[in-house]
Amino acid sequence: MAKPTFYLTTPIYYPSGNMHIGHTYTTVAADTMIRFKKQTGYDTYFLTGTDEHGQKIERKAQQAGVTPQQFVDKIVAETKDLWKLMNIEYDDFIRTTEDRHVKIVQKIFKQFYDQGDIYKSEYEGQYCAECEAFWTPTQLKDGNLCPDCGRPTEKAHEESYFFRMSKYQDWMIKYIEDHPDFIQPPSRANEMLNNFLRPGLQDLCVSRTSFKWGVPVDFDPGHVVYVWIDALSNYITALGYGTDHDELFKKYWPADVHLVGKEIVRFHTIYWPIMLHALGLPMPKQVFGHGWLLFGNDKMSKSKGNVVYPGPIVKRYGVDALRYYLMREMPFGADGNYTNEAMLTRMNADLVNDLGNLVSRTVAMIEKYFDGVVPEPGALEGPDLDLKATFEALPGIVEDQMNKLQFSIALSEIWKLIGECNKYIDLTQPWVLGKSEEGRPRLRTVMYVLAECIRAIAVYIQPTMPSTPARIYAQLGVGDDALKTWDSVKVFGQLKPGTVVKKGEALFPRVDIKKELEAMAAEAEKAEKKAEKADKKAEKKEEKQPAEPGVASFDDFMKIKLVAAKVIACERVPKSDKLLKETLDIGGGKTKTVCSGIAKYYAPEDMVGKTVVLVNNFAPRKMAGQVSEGMLLCAEDPDGSLRLLTVDGDVAPGSEIG
Ligand code: MSP
Repeated sequence: MAKPTFYLTTPIYYPSGNMHIGHTYTTVAADTMIRFKKQTGYDTYFLTGTDEHGQKIERKAQQAGVTPQQFVDKIVAETKDLWKLMNIEYDDFIRTTEDRHVKIVQKIFKQFYDQGDIYKSEYEGQYCAECEAFWTPTQLKDGNLCPDCGRPTEKAHEESYFFRMSKYQDWMIKYIEDHPDFIQPPSRANEMLNNFLRPGLQDLCVSRTSFKWGVPVDFDPGHVVYVWIDALSNYITALGYGTDHDELFKKYWPADVHLVGKEIVRFHTIYWPIMLHALGLPMPKQVFGHGWLLFGNDKMSKSKGNVVYPGPIVKRYGVDALRYYLMREMPFGADGNYTNEAMLTRMNADLVNDLGNLVSRTVAMIEKYFDGVVPEPGALEGPDLDLKATFEALPGIVEDQMNKLQFSIALSEIWKLIGECNKYIDLTQPWVLGKSEEGRPRLRTVMYVLAECIRAIAVYIQPTMPSTPARIYAQLGVGDDALKTWDSVKVFGQLKPGTVVKKGEALFPRVDIKKELEAMAAEAEKAEKKAEKADKKAEKKEEKQPAEPGVASFDDFMKIKLVAAKVIACERVPKSDKLLKETLDIGGGKTKTVCSGIAKYYAPEDMVGKTVVLVNNFAPRKMAGQVSEGMLLCAEDPDGSLRLLTVDGDVAPGSEIG
């Protein structure tokens, strides 16, 4: 029988800067969910990517002195490296600048236009380039601030295309009301209904003419498709929708879950469903709006200077520790604070003490009492049966919580089993049982029960902490893949007695929190300085490299030596009606002779005394039999007449210009 499918997406991220721990949070959650679904028998598809168009990116590229494409290429490469570091296993990474996406967006836009969903009019209102969002005056905060990010909005007045969102308003309200699972958590559904839909849905401005970095509207040059229409389409263009190779689309659409941050739920639960409805396509099954990782009370953002990047944390404590912390610390859906201290505290408590100790104590005891061989258990009694009951109830509980994307609850349930195992050791006191022959039968059972529970724990943590299970299996001597599956944890007692365990390194190193915090702060400072230095270096480099053909770099400009020169003599060049020959004082007691094609516009006597602009480092060349040692700068009128550039006021001949 074919496996059921499960299609999950992350938002596609703006490559306007490097991805931080907030973006990592969404992506890790998606990866965890996908791994869980894979584990529980689904044929999964995991899409992520980058949202590369729009005014914000265009401006960032301009500031950096590179083309928008060069700008995003660099960040996309770094983003892919980061996802690798975080052990993210996506099936596809879509970039909105790819041809496969652009072509279909144009097709979709045209279809909307042809079927009357889009019409042309004038837009006048406020635009937030940071969020790429339009706002009406009543939605703005404190005058002209964006209600989402709090930054000042800009007036936009342009000829635009509009999507008739208003036409679909009633349909949309009814859809949300009839599908209570569509928007999760449910509070976000109420917010959409009460704040956006019921007050009346405005038609949406869906094209821009004030900048170029977007998908061109192919039937109306000058317009680019509004970045959200472009971006949302990624969820289907990546699957080949609208092409003749749309097998993935047929197989995986509609998406099972669009995972998004709470600030973009609106785009995913109003505009996107309406777009799909207009295309005659089925709705995604669920949009889950998760909360923000805060820093203090603020959303983490580069412009606020409170950004935490995952790289250094992973380097110090390993990727699984960070993944665990992100999934465990706050309920999925709610906001939560990120602090290094909380992360380290959790690591010491949950990973080092609870999980790490359980594994190392158990393996050490099996080595000590049974020469490293997992013993055959006797009949289970009291505490063994309690633990077995917890063991056998857990798959249902974890599956239920994971299917609701309640990662932190699922993990806390798994940690309950770990906690019970540790209590079980305290209760059964293996060190006492090991002292006498009478204790041996009980000891055998206790060791077996613990080893079996640890095997299951390794299976449970796999989606969240993909690289730790292999290390546990190695210590436990579990080689058989059948003992690493989801099905294998449903029934207690799969581990084979006789398995040989082998003590290994501690799973997680215990950290001295105070020392670590100091070290991390010092590292952050160092990284900041390094980044500043790199920025400066990049600036210099960008100056050296022309951004594109026809664009001069600063270095190009600096190659031309311009000086102020005083005309001390001037005459016509014989047999030329164009040329004047000037003798120039270029300072330091030197003169130069230059021929200029200005005889039609200046009489020789008018030239004497002028301080002009001379290109001083031209190789001498012959003009009408005369040697010219430079060039005077002129402005050319549209009618072709020439006017000399002169220097305002008195400057010494030879003064540098630049
Ligand atoms: N490009 C749009 C999404 C288009 S989807 C068709 C966008 N990009 S973004 O880069 O600004 O943010 C993408 C997502 O990153 C957010 O929705 C959110 O999931 C995540 N986060 C960014 N900062 C975050 C925190 N501080 N905390 C949690 N998530 C954060 O919006």
